[in-house]
Amino acid sequence: MDSNLTQHQELLPEELQGSAVNLDLTLPGSTGRKFYIESYGCQMNFSDSEIVASILAQEGIQSTRNIEEADMIFINTCSIREKAEDSVRKRLKEFKPFKKNKPELVVGVLGCMAERLKAKFLEQEQLVDIVAGPDSYRDLPNLLKKADDGDKGVNVFLSREETYADIAPMRLDENGVTAFISIMRGCDNMCSFCVVPFTRGRERSRSSYTIVAEAEDLYLRGYREVTLLGQNVDSYKWVNPETNELTNFAHLLEMVAKVNPQLRVRFSTSHPKDITDEVLYTMAKYNNICNYIHLPVQSGSSRILELMNRTYDREWYLDRVSAIHKIIPECAISSDIITGFCTETEEDHRETLSIMELANYSMSYMFFYSERPGTPAAKKYKDDVSLEIKKERLNEIIRLQNRLSHHHNQADIGKTFEVLIEGNSKRSEDMFKGRNSQNKMIVFNKKGNYQPGDYVTVKVDSASSATLHGTITA
Ligand code: SAH
Ligand code: SF4
Ligand code: F3S
Repeated sequence: MDSNLTQHQELLPEELQGSAVNLDLTLPGSTGRKFYIESYGCQMNFSDSEIVASILAQEGIQSTRNIEEADMIFINTCSIREKAEDSVRKRLKEFKPFKKNKPELVVGVLGCMAERLKAKFLEQEQLVDIVAGPDSYRDLPNLLKKADDGDKGVNVFLSREETYADIAPMRLDENGVTAFISIMRGCDNMCSFCVVPFTRGRERSRSSYTIVAEAEDLYLRGYREVTLLGQNVDSYKWVNPETNELTNFAHLLEMVAKVNPQLRVRFSTSHPKDITDEVLYTMAKYNNICNYIHLPVQSGSSRILELMNRTYDREWYLDRVSAIHKIIPECAISSDIITGFCTETEEDHRETLSIMELANYSMSYMFFYSERPGTPAAKKYKDDVSLEIKKERLNEIIRLQNRLSHHHNQADIGKTFEVLIEGNSKRSEDMFKGRNSQNKMIVFNKKGNYQPGDYVTVKVDSASSATLHGTITA
């Protein structure tokens, strides 16, 4: 296997090694019990773990980063591809010795895999005590009581209303500068390959007031960037029950942008069928809404897009790309691509490569198709592209994206950008890292009294396909 392929597959966000919660908080009324949590999957899951941490803290249960001292271990899981589920199962096996040493240890499986497998989890994985789907986290204290009494606790009820709007997430991020805000849950799209509608249920939007209040609170606590999260943010829709007034995504963006000009606003994910010119004009109007859109194409072939039930075709997608370039000329676009979907031919594959060039993505997440049980594609189509061909095509896609990213980054050399400092660079304490509006990571020297959370002007001196390097000019 090509080394590129391995590297990229391991960099996929959904399959990143789970990351442990990072807070040591002692609350009044603490029970002395401690929980350890690991999150896998997309940002929605990481964001949900912050809700879970908040619910457990209310019960007086403290967080720990040290798994050995934990009285309960939670794993927040992802089902998007087979590989994502495999890594969770592998991790669960590693928990066995802890349970052996401490029989009263509670092991809880949360998130999408819990929802997909439900009580089956208890049969398959003997050490699991709690199975809780994404809409049942308020029930965790109750499920814990059951587990303490020696029973198994399962709640996989999917709600039409739950948005956890009133729960202040306990921020688990490490930098104190950038944070995620969930604005909606679930998905109504039914892309044929996708398990999300089954694991996260129907789409519902959270009240715009609680979103704005969360952004204001984050700003006051020193945060300088928020990312509004949803599976399809463009279909955000909230009707005020008192006034009947409708807030769409463009309105919401504007409301959050107005919180403070020093608070950057990002969002993810946009759906090509739903992203409106109104959203693009709102982005152009506010300097603090970042010039970056993650607009997953999945395939460049209209025939495959139809089988995928993406409800747009190649022309529609390219029209949206032109609208972005026209209305926000400096905007960077990134994508998700699935290769080797059912019946995909070499010609379809060529169309994916050509749409990547036309859209000139700054970055992409690239996957080969993994059939998910119960999805429309699994029911209707044969997974008939061999693994070998899937890997070959994926390799070619990755090589092309590396070339596009390299080109994109080379074109930035000599330009200056406003960068929000996020913290020290991984490689050196003497360097800062931060992102420009286009979401590109820039590493630069420290200078003066600048701190994480400050904005600086950085001139780009050199670039690789992943990172820009620069110097502070102001
Ligand atoms: N809501 C987002 C995507 C969420 S899932 C959207 O509509 O764009 C993240 C990505 O995982 C998808 O964009 C897709 O590229 C990939 N993905 C989803 N299901 C997959 C499957 N069965 N096999 C391979 N990749 C998949
Ligand atoms: Fe899945 Fe499609 Fe919904 Fe994205 S929009 S979560 S790919 S069903
Ligand atoms: Fe995975 Fe669930 Fe997110 S399946 S990608 S954690 S919505």
